[in-house]
Amino acid sequence: MSTGFLHALFHPLVSLELFSRPNGDATSSVDVSYILTAFMAIGIYLVFKRYQNARNRPVLFEWPAPSAADPGFSSVTITNPSLESHLSNPNLAPSMPFAGRKYITCYDPSTSLFLATLPADSAFEIGEKIGLAGRAQLSWRSSTFTERKRFVRSLMRWLVDNREVCARVTCRDTGKTLVDAALGEILTTCSKMEWILAHGEQVLRPEKRHSNLTLSYKTSKVYHEPLGVVAAIVSWNYPLHNAISPLLAALFSGNAIVIKCSENVVWSTTWFIGAVKECLRACGHDPNLVQLVACYPEEAEAVTTSAFIKHITFIGSETVGRKVAQAATVHLTPVNLELGGKDPAVLLPGVNINQYASMWMRGVFQNAGQNCIGIERFIVHSSQHDELVRTLTERTKRLRFGSVMSPSAEGYIAPVDCGAMISRDRFSELERLINNAVEEGASLETGGSRWKHVYLEEGAYFSGTVLGNVENGMEIAQTELFAPVALVLKYDTIQEAIDIANGTRFGLGASVFGPDQNLCLKVARRLDCGMVAVNDFAIFYVCCLSQDLPFGGTKASGYGRFGGPEGLRSLTAPKAIVVDKWPWLMQTSIPAILDYPVRSLNQSWDFISGLIGVLYADRWSEKFSSLKRLIRASW
Ligand SMILES: *[C@@H]1O[C@H](CO)[C@@H](O)[C@H](O)[C@H]1NC(C)=O
Ligand SMILES: *[C@@H]1O[C@H](CO)[C@@H](O)[C@H](O)[C@H]1NC(C)=O
Repeated sequence: MSTGFLHALFHPLVSLELFSRPNGDATSSVDVSYILTAFMAIGIYLVFKRYQNARNRPVLFEWPAPSAADPGFSSVTITNPSLESHLSNPNLAPSMPFAGRKYITCYDPSTSLFLATLPADSAFEIGEKIGLAGRAQLSWRSSTFTERKRFVRSLMRWLVDNREVCARVTCRDTGKTLVDAALGEILTTCSKMEWILAHGEQVLRPEKRHSNLTLSYKTSKVYHEPLGVVAAIVSWNYPLHNAISPLLAALFSGNAIVIKCSENVVWSTTWFIGAVKECLRACGHDPNLVQLVACYPEEAEAVTTSAFIKHITFIGSETVGRKVAQAATVHLTPVNLELGGKDPAVLLPGVNINQYASMWMRGVFQNAGQNCIGIERFIVHSSQHDELVRTLTERTKRLRFGSVMSPSAEGYIAPVDCGAMISRDRFSELERLINNAVEEGASLETGGSRWKHVYLEEGAYFSGTVLGNVENGMEIAQTELFAPVALVLKYDTIQEAIDIANGTRFGLGASVFGPDQNLCLKVARRLDCGMVAVNDFAIFYVCCLSQDLPFGGTKASGYGRFGGPEGLRSLTAPKAIVVDKWPWLMQTSIPAILDYPVRSLNQSWDFISGLIGVLYADRWSEKFSSLKRLIRASW
């Protein structure tokens, strides 16, 4: 803006001698108008900022905490719950169940307290939900990034303000500890939100692509179009994070989402998705954009074989993952599979065991070992095997198992390091694998079996276990345990360490520890997997690294990536659009010589063959003769 213009604007004010000196000469009135200009600019800027802030400010909403989030909550204790009995326990069904309707019974695995009996969706209801999401997406797909960011910011504000209630809800439903919830559920979700707010728009914005010299009158862009309704079928180990993280990516890229949660965490997921819907409503959007499906495996095909589901993210076991991938072929639905892992921690010779022991303990025992990227195997040089086993065993023996949601008789909550497992269903299998390993020569240093809590007798606890001298050929070294169990395998040469690390069907994450960073990197490059942390554990996901990295694996750990730019874009369809740069000046036209019906076959062949030579021949002589041919043909 020209200052002359502003000066003229303010001149009347100045000439009123309101602001100028009484004997105001020309110079002083100019000074005053400059000051006024500055004030006005600042004023406009502040008004604009205020308007902008108002559009970006998080929207507050209320979402009452469930009573079971309180450690003082009490209810019936389910004795000896098992998958068959707890999910559809007829004794715990509502007083007047609908005929033919299936129910899911929810309980706290660390105390076996009954939480709720919730209806399971039928295939018909799942279809209805997909339809609702589809209708809501029609207007959401054209929402602006400002609106989407405002939604994410509002949800983030709610999550941070209510982090304790949210953590308690996950503890209640899965038996985990508050610290495990804070690290694995809240921190990870907040960092995902922060990443989407900071980088999501840039990743999804239309991208300009290069055009070739011959086509320099064209300009091309790739648009990342929303797919429609996408589905996420997610595991129970992190009910908050596993539901919200795919939801954020789906909504931010303009899709609606159907989330199918595990039967084990229906109670908590229902509450979290309720909050998300409330947030959408408060921001002025259709809450139907997000649909939660809770059902038994028989009905899940209504999601995976639906013609209206345009992408499936699956986090879970290999067996179910294979079924999902097969079902998705019905409509050629793209699938992203995040399956199991058997993540190795490769400890190179001379690693400082004391320095990293704390990280390794968390790598094994975080979330009672129920992590897809938890450390399942330590691969250590034989000279350090005994020291490592001693260190791990000494610390594992001191771990306190229990529930953070259950005060003892005096109302005092004892410190708890490790929570319960999701259920007792896999205890017998774990014990069998451990016993077999011991028979084959592994040394059981501590733990090895289910564990009965002093007063939480019905809780699903498995004792912290360390097995030394494990061999790669043992069944336990090849099976994903997903349990608080550390296996130690030894090697003599680095090649052997790599062979062991790569020697399973899985290839999700890995870590390499050692004093020589270059050697660590060399080993990392040779591991068959999707992610590696050097001298760290799971840093590629867990920590505040702002989630800029793709997450996923190779081999039986699945394919596709979520997280990072790769994950966000996988929920969109790239669409390439080419337009003329100067449509009034230059557009593509078919040369007369190629026009249908073709005048002469020889001539048109010479023309196009000459053109290829001119453009792409790498010798000047060939280029020149092609040019001659081209010109001759054009005549
Ligand atoms: C056009 O194609 C040629 C040959 O492949 C290549 O060398 C050149 O870089 C391209 N031009 C542009 C603008 O990409
Ligand atoms: C991992 O090690 C196995 C066995 O030594 C080998 O076959 C494979 O090629 C290795 N992977 C990479 C990426 O080097």
